[in-house]
Amino acid sequence: MMKPYRAGIKGTGSILPGKKLTNSQLESIVETSDEWIIKRTGIRERHILEDGVPLAKIAAEASVKAINDAGLNPADIELIIASTCTPDYLTPSLSCMVQRETGAKNAAALDVNAACTGFIYALQTGRQFIENGTYNNVLIVSAEALSRVTDFNDRKTCVLFGDGAGAVVLSKVDDETGVEEVFLGAVGDDGNVLTIPLLYASDIDVQNRNQGKKQVIWMDGSEVFTFASRIMSEATKKVLDNAGTEMEQVKYIFPHQANMRILQNAAKRLGVSMDRIYSNLEYTGNISSASIPVCLDEASNKGLLKKGDKIIMVAFGGGLTYGSALLTWSKQH
Ligand code: COA
Repeated sequence: MMKPYRAGIKGTGSILPGKKLTNSQLESIVETSDEWIIKRTGIRERHILEDGVPLAKIAAEASVKAINDAGLNPADIELIIASTCTPDYLTPSLSCMVQRETGAKNAAALDVNAACTGFIYALQTGRQFIENGTYNNVLIVSAEALSRVTDFNDRKTCVLFGDGAGAVVLSKVDDETGVEEVFLGAVGDDGNVLTIPLLYASDIDVQNRNQGKKQVIWMDGSEVFTFASRIMSEATKKVLDNAGTEMEQVKYIFPHQANMRILQNAAKRLGVSMDRIYSNLEYTGNISSASIPVCLDEASNKGLLKKGDKIIMVAFGGGLTYGSALLTWSKQH
């Protein structure tokens, strides 16, 4: 269906907190080893938000970078969509806090929670407002402080996660670039394999956790691994089919950064070499919905993306949720 307007990424920005947590530091916290973590996940270190610093701070910093990169002022932003599953507050929302911190006074603000798939859900939401002519500039910011919901006595999860923020400015574009196709899905029936309780915890949630630690991640790693390995390739194929585009036309895939073995499985199923699969998890770990926009910002800064390049973003996460997007890069560099 022809849309009246097209929405393209015109600016990117990201922040990884300065404090790092290395595998060897984790060795002194839980029974694990640098060798096990690298072999089973590909992760060497992750960034951790300093105590006392709100997540909104790095979300706003990443947002300002993206707004500057787009050549805009905060006042030009008409809608802020923040994706997070680790907000500072239930209210105010992260998007309202970002509005306050950035001075984007003319923006409406809403949050999206689709766990690690949050950026793709936010992109699909944001593009609608541009394509139907409601807004010209939408800020999408994905920020996560997973270290704050991690049980550092649980070696099955604490080696995987990190903190960070990534943002993009989605603007009306008057060429053939921009978002082409987005595919979203959810499997609520399997939501119990990855949980972070908040105001309620079932008996099973309590049983699964160390005593007294209610608001921490619990995960059935192998169930999530099986789901992820299948859904990454299926969602990628689906978005290509829906767009009538061939894999050969795509320059890079930007997958959610959960585990190097999941990326390798996806590459194998898709018949794509690993040099077309962007990855930074070696030094970020899994930063949930922030993973993809942080990767986009890095790739853009490295000059890997040129106007007209086709890319795919694909993610899976708690919920369970999944999603993929096909996009033609709109920025000159
Ligand atoms: N260090 C050392 N040993 C560890 C360990 C760690 N950090 N974590 C688990 N182990 C042990 C297990 O206890 C198990 O020991 P056992 O055989 O004596 O019981 C053994 O390693 C194998 O565990 P298993 O869970 O089968 O390992 P795995 O190869 O499946 O890797 C994950 C575990 C969590 C890394 C992997 O399942 C994974 O990445 N899953 C997907 C997670 C994900 O993507 N989550 C985010 C969703 S957005």
